[in-house]
Amino acid sequence: MIWKFITFFVRKLDPEIAHRLTIKFLKLGLHPRLDQSVIPINIGDLIFKNLLGVAAGFDKNAEVINRVHFLNFGFTEVGTITPLPQYGNPKPRIFRLEKDKAIINRNGFNNLGMLEAKNKLEHYRKKFPVGSDFLVGINIGPNKDSKNRLSDYKVLAENLSVFADYVSINVSSPNTPNLRDFQKKNNLEKIIKFVKDGIATSKTFNKKLPIFLKIAPDINKQTLKSIIETAHSQKIFGLVISNTTLDRESNLKSKKSNELGGLSGKPLFKKSTDILSQANKIIKNNNYKLFLIAAGGVSDSKTAYVKILCGAHLVQLYSSLTFEGPLVANQIISGILKLMKRDNIKNIFDIVGVIDNPKDAMNVAINGFKNYKN
Ligand SMILES: Cc1cc2nc3c(=O)[nH]c(=O)nc-3n(C[C@H](O)[C@H](O)[C@H](O)COP(=O)(O)O)c2cc1C
Repeated sequence: MIWKFITFFVRKLDPEIAHRLTIKFLKLGLHPRLDQSVIPINIGDLIFKNLLGVAAGFDKNAEVINRVHFLNFGFTEVGTITPLPQYGNPKPRIFRLEKDKAIINRNGFNNLGMLEAKNKLEHYRKKFPVGSDFLVGINIGPNKDSKNRLSDYKVLAENLSVFADYVSINVSSPNTPNLRDFQKKNNLEKIIKFVKDGIATSKTFNKKLPIFLKIAPDINKQTLKSIIETAHSQKIFGLVISNTTLDRESNLKSKKSNELGGLSGKPLFKKSTDILSQANKIIKNNNYKLFLIAAGGVSDSKTAYVKILCGAHLVQLYSSLTFEGPLVANQIISGILKLMKRDNIKNIFDIVGVIDNPKDAMNVAINGFKNYKN
């Protein structure tokens, strides 16, 4: 009850102030301490106690890693971290679309930069080394005015990869001009090479460090296919699907829906799930080994279940933390456990990507498998 009240109050504040306050609360230990319920999943050599994580952008400077663990998340993706500190776009740059349960942000990679993040991560890793129960992904991106964006990715990988359970290459933020061009085949191959070179020159070179590509939802099937083929040929570990969208649905109700920036939350669910589902089919049909992390409009156990049925090994959220508050992960995890019980699923891996059509997946999430005919 108290957390519902606090969430209600925090939501009355300007979104950026509310976010800063939330990070402060977490740093001070003013948060719920929940019993850890678990939905384990192993992908490659990564062992997750719990498949639900915090998406990038929430903990941009790696300040509250050990705090979100208390909220019943199984992993976090810190960042996006750029080599140099960056103010980002002028404020206001985050807008809450209350009626749509959505957020538009045009932050532009505001963060304290690589060295600050490195200090924080170094400190965290003294207590919780790589491979601990709670996993940490590090999301990297270039500075807006960088003369050489490829070198930015390399220097970030060189300095930060030793602290990562996985690295996530951000080629999809809509708020850094032309960043999404890196999703094109030639560019993507170059970035991957630079990141791998960076990892190879880092202090403790881990040849098997998993690399994910975080992609946009605003791509056609051909681009998605080309990204997946590149990811496969370059031995990438997986994809994060997806970042925010530049699209605006015609039925958005909030006045702020015309603000520039990336849209996240409820209205992103369909689009990001469609891309996820397409990716799952391409990967299955070609027998590729690529793991998928789903993000986009996950707000309850059913939306999370749909993502899993459509191909997600792991699920992330950001916007629903704003709308539902710090108990959201707990609600989702206990809800998924109930759905698994209803459907007699012992191991979540058994239902990853088993349904090709997101609409069918939603029907199964609501009604169970009993009436589902493949
Ligand atoms: C305020 C805000 C800031 C974000 N910053 C980043 C970022 O720095 N890097 C990134 O890869 N994604 C960023 N994202 C995108 C999220 O990680 C996630 O992909 C997207 O919001 C979809 O998930 P959701 O609907 O659960 O919010 C941000 C999202 C929001 C709302």
